[in-house]
Amino acid sequence: VPVDLFDLVIFGGGGDLSLRKLLPALYHRDHDGQLPPSSRIIATGRSEMTREAYLEEVEAALRKHLDDHEFTEAQWETFAERLHYVRSDALDASSWGDLNALLEGFDDRTRVFYLATSPSLFGSIASGLNSNGLISKDVRIVLEKPVGKDHASAREINDQVGEFFPEDVIYRIDHYLGKETVQNLLALRFANSLFEPLWNRGNVDHVQITVAEDLGVGQRIEFYDQVGTLRDMVQNHLMQLLCLVAMEPPANRDHDAVRDEKMKVLRALKPIDAASVRSHSVRGQYQSGAIGGEPVKGYLEELGNDDSTTETFVALKVEIDNWRWSGVPFYLRSGKRLKSKYSEIVVEFQQVPHSIFPESSYHVAPNRLVLRLQPDEGVNLTLMSKEPGPGGFDLRPVSLNLSFEETFGVRYPDAYERLLMEVIRGNPALFMRRDEVEAAWQWIDSIIAGWDVASQPVEEYPGGTWGPTAASLLLDRDGRTWGKLD
Ligand code: BG6
Repeated sequence: VPVDLFDLVIFGGGGDLSLRKLLPALYHRDHDGQLPPSSRIIATGRSEMTREAYLEEVEAALRKHLDDHEFTEAQWETFAERLHYVRSDALDASSWGDLNALLEGFDDRTRVFYLATSPSLFGSIASGLNSNGLISKDVRIVLEKPVGKDHASAREINDQVGEFFPEDVIYRIDHYLGKETVQNLLALRFANSLFEPLWNRGNVDHVQITVAEDLGVGQRIEFYDQVGTLRDMVQNHLMQLLCLVAMEPPANRDHDAVRDEKMKVLRALKPIDAASVRSHSVRGQYQSGAIGGEPVKGYLEELGNDDSTTETFVALKVEIDNWRWSGVPFYLRSGKRLKSKYSEIVVEFQQVPHSIFPESSYHVAPNRLVLRLQPDEGVNLTLMSKEPGPGGFDLRPVSLNLSFEETFGVRYPDAYERLLMEVIRGNPALFMRRDEVEAAWQWIDSIIAGWDVASQPVEEYPGGTWGPTAASLLLDRDGRTWGKLD
């Protein structure tokens, strides 16, 4: 269904996120006929560049990031018609003239400002939009993550943007919320009667959430060195996944209904602080190693600085202090330069109370429900089954495996495709509310402070492995093991 007529202004339109994610996503939506013919995409950046030069950059990026059959000359021509480039520097008030001129007379359509810049510029851009009279009636502002680097800076940014934009038009992106499997978590939990009665401390032994990447930090290393995995991945993506698994059933899918339930989970998280960081967290940093037979450099070598203790891997044992989850640990881990790109949520159910199969060479393993986020999105349920044969009673774990791609046979849209359309439609359900972002930072800040006070060591791990040994010990100590990923 086509969305309403809009102008989308992307601050940081020549940056990596725009070229790698936003523009390919918009190209796909255009290809599927969802963008009204005269809707425009206006990229802004600090460099002086002609429209032609910008189009060349975008064309090269689309050719690189789309599959061969997805990029066609005819579709590119249609898409390129929509694209504009203007110079504008958030910190230079005299540089907004071209943007003003392009937007003048177009305030009867939906206007979206997408801030794909450093968060330190969000306040200045919001203020510039206001002083240039660009905040039209049907406006939205999108803040790309990270919103700040801690609780205090997140509050400051939220205050600055909030001075000019009411909360209901602020869309804070966490692109994991736009992923199909994450959406499907809601369907799985609340459109099936099978799981919800078991979804609690009476039946679940523990939950694991893994977001593993084989890529290193790459070009972003200078930015990343100030940030680390806890802030880059856990504060947003992993905590959002945790909230969706742990929250109570919302009354409906209304934006505030879901966000209220997520907020309750965030409020119930037991703090990890100086007294508990050592037993509840692991920080790691990759060394040189090999991925798929190719040698990879260590983090410090890439950085060219031996001193950095920035973590490229984190594992946490998280406890939720409420009736549903009391005593059920949620183990989270995320890292760069791991063996492969792999993300999953595992709900491990409790052991059967008593086995009537003492002769089986396999013991009765607990059932595991695995939601695979990537690659090959799907759901897997492990069950114990009888090994076929006339004698004895041997058991074997088997799995019911649902691959969404095989079942539905359609292309899975990228998360940004869905999220951009939701912004234009004016539906903030898949975006983070101010209180969520701030509560998540508050919880993360306590871990960072705890690491400092407790002098938490940074554990080394060779690139191409599943992380430091200490991450396995975190579960071993509780008599558990991480799901096997390879
Ligand atoms: C981003 C992080 O938010 O998510 C990156 O800043 C990370 O460091 C990326 O690589 C992972 O996203 P995806 O969709 O590839 O899992």
